Amino acid sequence: MIEVKNLSKTYGNKHNKFTAMRGVSFSIPDGASVAIIGKSGSGKSTLMHAMSGLDKPQKGQVLIDGIDILKLSARDTDKFRATQIGFVFQSFFLEPNESCYNNISLALEMAGTPRNKRKELILQALADVNLSEKAKSNAVELSGGQKQRLAIARAIVNRPKIIFADEPTGNLDSANSQIVEDLLFDRQKNHHTTLILVTHNQELAARCQIQIRIKDGEIEQFICSPEITKKLKSEKTVAKSNLAKRSQA
Ligand SMILES: Nc1ncnc2c1ncn2[C@@H]1O[C@H](COP(=O)(O)OP(=O)(O)OP(=O)(O)O)[C@@H](O)[C@H]1O
Ligand SMILES: [Mg+2]
Repeated sequence: MIEVKNLSKTYGNKHNKFTAMRGVSFSIPDGASVAIIGKSGSGKSTLMHAMSGLDKPQKGQVLIDGIDILKLSARDTDKFRATQIGFVFQSFFLEPNESCYNNISLALEMAGTPRNKRKELILQALADVNLSEKAKSNAVELSGGQKQRLAIARAIVNRPKIIFADEPTGNLDSANSQIVEDLLFDRQKNHHTTLILVTHNQELAARCQIQIRIKDGEIEQFICSPEITKKLKSEKTVAKSNLAKRSQA
């Protein structure tokens, strides 16, 4: 389970401050699909960066399976990101002059995957996104849709627990958007990966089990399916009883 507790983030210095997130709290059960929605500048990326350990807000907690990732050392944060999380961004963030194969390999190197295990994982990830034929092509040679598929291959190669996607279809036409969406939801449904995406696309948001609407750095609305409400209740009960057992021991 992911539990966000009372997160607040202020940018700038004492002469020029801007509070982009104020007291945000919610929980997400493992394996859920989540859309973070809201107007430009409302704080969606700020929230996603805090939840993924990319940025440290001044106040609050992000508990992932009970561990506060904001309290991890810089080294442990890097390790957590490299092994537990996959990222997909609107502008891809690929190494343009490296091959597709090497772009994915870099993610495995960062996660410390031994050299002799990498090849099989990379070829599988390329096959999963239907890019096997482009293994040797440089990222710069790919179309927009192919670039985003490569970014997804890189995000999934470590079999992450959580995928964060910030406007993953923002630069794609509708046919490619559909392919990218389907790939992301396939990971969520068939690999029990938690999928957290930021989107301006209403239809994409509607496909998610949880919708979190942000306004001026606060949660304006948290909508979830009855199935998710049930899961959250039961996970909270388990967490409480574990805590009670720990304090008795
Ligand atoms: N590094 C920064 N320094 C100062 N202010 C920042 C910084 N990053 C973001 N902000 C401000 O914080 C607010 C929230 O920004 P954020 O990027 O989270 O918005 P967003 O909801 O993701 O918007 P968009 O839909 O345009 O991507 C904005 O007003 C933005 O100007
Ligand atoms: Mg943003």
